[in-house]
Amino acid sequence: MIDRPDAPHPWINYLGTGDFIGIISNTAGGYAFYRDARLRRLTRYRYNNVPVDEDGRFLYLRDDADGSYWSPTWRPTRRALEEYSCRHGLGYTSIASSRAGIHACATYLVPLQTTVETWSLELTNRRDAAAQLSLFSAVEFCLWNAHDDATNFQRNLNVGEVSVWDRTIVHRSEFRERRNHVASFSCSEPLAGFETRRDAFLGPYRGWSAPRSVEQGTLTHSIGVGGFPIAAHHVRLTLHPGETKRVLFVLGYHELEKDPKRQQSGPSIPNPRAIEAQIAPLLTADGFDRALRDLRSYWDEKLQTLQVETGDVDVDRMVNIWNPYQCGVTYTVSRSASRYESGIGRGIGFRDANQDLLGCVHMIPALARQRILDLASTQLASGGAYHQYQPLTKQGNNAIGSGFNDDPLWLIHAVCAYIKESGDWEILEEQVPYGDDASQVEAIYGHLIRAANYTLDRLGPHRLPLIGRADWNDCLNLNSHSLDPDEPFQTVPVADGTVAESVLIAALFCIVAPDLAEIASRRGDGRTAQQLSRANGAMRDVVRENGWDGDWFLRAYDADGAAVGSSSCDEGRIYLEPQGLCTMAGMGIDDGRARRALDSVAEQLATEHGLLLVQPAYSGYRTNLGEISSYPPGYKENGSIFCHTNPWIVIAECMIGRGDRAWDYAQRINPSHREAITEIHECEPYVYAQMIAGRDADDHGKARNSWLTGTASWAYVAMTQWVLGIRPTFDGLVIDPCIPAGLQRFSVRRTYRGTRYEIRVSNPDGVCRGVASMHADGVPVEGACLPVFDDRRIHVVDVRMGTAT
Ligand code: GLC
Ligand code: GLC
Repeated sequence: MIDRPDAPHPWINYLGTGDFIGIISNTAGGYAFYRDARLRRLTRYRYNNVPVDEDGRFLYLRDDADGSYWSPTWRPTRRALEEYSCRHGLGYTSIASSRAGIHACATYLVPLQTTVETWSLELTNRRDAAAQLSLFSAVEFCLWNAHDDATNFQRNLNVGEVSVWDRTIVHRSEFRERRNHVASFSCSEPLAGFETRRDAFLGPYRGWSAPRSVEQGTLTHSIGVGGFPIAAHHVRLTLHPGETKRVLFVLGYHELEKDPKRQQSGPSIPNPRAIEAQIAPLLTADGFDRALRDLRSYWDEKLQTLQVETGDVDVDRMVNIWNPYQCGVTYTVSRSASRYESGIGRGIGFRDANQDLLGCVHMIPALARQRILDLASTQLASGGAYHQYQPLTKQGNNAIGSGFNDDPLWLIHAVCAYIKESGDWEILEEQVPYGDDASQVEAIYGHLIRAANYTLDRLGPHRLPLIGRADWNDCLNLNSHSLDPDEPFQTVPVADGTVAESVLIAALFCIVAPDLAEIASRRGDGRTAQQLSRANGAMRDVVRENGWDGDWFLRAYDADGAAVGSSSCDEGRIYLEPQGLCTMAGMGIDDGRARRALDSVAEQLATEHGLLLVQPAYSGYRTNLGEISSYPPGYKENGSIFCHTNPWIVIAECMIGRGDRAWDYAQRINPSHREAITEIHECEPYVYAQMIAGRDADDHGKARNSWLTGTASWAYVAMTQWVLGIRPTFDGLVIDPCIPAGLQRFSVRRTYRGTRYEIRVSNPDGVCRGVASMHADGVPVEGACLPVFDDRRIHVVDVRMGTAT
C-alpha cells in the first residue's frame, strides 16, 4: 500500500500474466502492449518526459456545478487529494482517493487468458447533496511500432485512423494495409460524447494536466485521421448522497480475420461484432469481479507451491509473495519493458531468460519447459547462442550484440534446474532445430553437449575459457578496444580474441559440468560422462593454477594477457562474481581458499547496502576493459552493488556453512528490509532492483533499475534452496539449511513432484548448518534427500538441526 501519490519515483506494477501486459504506476501511469513492447504497443509512453510518468491511463472527474476538475489517480492534473492510497496486488492495481466529497476507487487488471485491460471505477458521493459529475477517460494510442512511433513523424502524422461504434473507439491505424490487429477502448455507460483527436481533446498547447475539453465539460465527437489518435469518453453521472456507481472501461487488443481478396482491393475496416464479442463480457461489474477473483486464485495457486514461516517479516514477505511474483513478471517480460527498459531495445535475452527460469520453474513448469525449447531453438549450431530473441517471432538476432561466451552454459543450468524440479527427463529427447541452421535438428541433450563443447573448444593461453565479447558481466569488454563514441559497446565488432579469458566462465562450466555428466551417465552415455568429468577436473586445476590471486579468485585476463581483478592491478583489484561462482562450483572449499576469498569479500566489498561488484572502481575509461570503465565509480558494473551477484555470495557463504553471514547479506539488499530507508533507497520496496549505488557514489544506497533483473531469481534461489536449504535435486528434495545460529525454527510448505511436504525445522542447539535427524511421517529418513512420494498427499517432515551424533 502506497500512501502518497508522489512516491520518490513512480512505483510500478505489472498487469497481465500472458500475452497482454500493462505497466502501471501508483498513479496509473504507464502503457500496454501485446507480447512485444516494441512491435505491438497499444498506448504511447514518453520515457524522457517531464514531469515523469505523464502518459498513461487518464481519468478526470469534473463537478459540473462549478466546473472544477481533478484526476482521481492524482496524475495528470496533480490536484490535491484529501485521501489517497494505491494498492499494488498480484496482477492488479487499485487506486483510491477522495476530493470534495467524491470518493473514487479505480482498479485495473488484465483478465486471465484475455488480451484486454479492464478498469473498474467506483464512485461514491459522500456529500449531503446530489452531485452532477462528468467523468472523462482517455488513452493515447501508439502507432504500434514504438520505435517508429517515437521517430518517424513524417509518416506517423499521416497514418492514424479510428472508427467509433457506440461506446467503443477502435484504433485501426495501418489496418487498411498489412496489419490484422486493432486496439479498442470501450466504456460500459452511454456516452455524452467522445473524442479521438488528441488536439481536439487537449486544445492547442495544452498537456494532459489541463485538457480544454475537460475544463469546458464537453467533447466534440472528433474522428481523427492522421495526427494523434486517442480515445476519450465522456459520461455524465448523477450521484445521490451516499450513492455508489461503477463505470467500466476496457482497453483491448484484437487480431481479426481479414479477407485476403478485399485486402488487395481496397480499404478494409475491422468488423465491430468480432471486437464487441471479446469485450462485452468484461464491460460488466460481474465480469470484472469474476476476473479479479480468477486472478487471485491464479496467483494463490502459484504461490502455494512454496510458503515459508521464518518469523522474519521481511524474509517471509519476499519469499512468500513479492519475490516469486517478481520472478514471474521478469520471466514474462525479460528485460524488455519497465521504467528503465524502453521496450524498444531488448527482447528476451538468452542468458537472462535461462536464469529467470530458476526462480519460477516450480510455479510454472509447463511454461518453463516451453521457454527452454524456445531458447534451445535459438542456439547456434556451433553450440553458441544468439544473445536475444524477439518474443513475437521467436527468432534469435544479434541486435544487442553477439559472442557472449558464457551464454550457452546457462542453458545447461536451466535445463538441469527444470529436471531437478519436475523429474521430466523426457525434455532431453525433444528434437529442436538450431537457430542459424534449421536443417540441423537435435535432441535437447545434444544441444547441451554442444553448449559444453563450445566452452571447451575455446580455451586461451592459460587454458581458461575465452571470454568473447563478454561473459555474464557484459560490460567487461576485453576484446573491443573501442575509441569511437558512436559505437555501442555491445555491438562494436570484436575480433575473435584468442587471448582474453574469463575465470567466471570457468566457474560456470564447473557448476554445470557435474550435472551434465550425471545426466549423461544416467542416459547410458558413459563416454560423454567421463569426458565431462575429466574436463571439469582439468578446469578446476586450471583455476587453481591460473585463477587464484592469493587472497581471492581472479576475474579474467585481458587481450594482452594481463590479469584483471588481481592485487597486482592499480584499480579493479577484486571482483565479486568469481568469489561467488568459484565457491558455488565447489572450488577451494576443501583447502580454505573459498573461505579466504569470502573473507576478502567481507573486508573489501561489503557495505551496509550490499556487496560491491568491484573495488577499487575504475576512475577513468580503459580501452582494454571497455564499458565497465565507462560508468562513473559506484554505478552499474563499475562498482555498484550489482544486486544479481549478491545472492551468489549468499549461496557461497552457505556452502562454507556461515549461516549468519549469508542471512545478513541477503537482508542488506532485501527490498522489504530496505523499506525503512526508502528516502535513501527510493525504488519500490517490494521488488529487487538491478543495482544500488556503490560506496564511491554520492548517493550510495540509492537503488536503480528496479523490477527486471536476474536478482529476482537468484535472491529466491539463494534464500529458499541454500539458506532455508530446501533444494530440488535429480533424486528429490534435499534438506540442507544454513541459517543464523539464533534462528530456532522455521517451516516450509512445498509442493514438489505431486506431493505436498510440510517441513518443520528445529534448531535447538543453535547451529548454522547440519541436520542431525529427519523424519517423514514419523519414519526416519536416511541421508539428506526426502523420498519422492508422488501420491498427491500431505507428508509431514520433521527436521532437527544439530551436530550429528
Ligand atoms: C544486465 C544484463 C545481464 C548481465 C548483467 C551484468 O543485468 O541483463 O545479462 O549479465 O547486466 O552485466
Ligand atoms: C549495457 C548495460 C548492461 C546490460 C547491457 C545489455 O551494457 O550496462 O547492464 O546488460 O547493456 O545489452
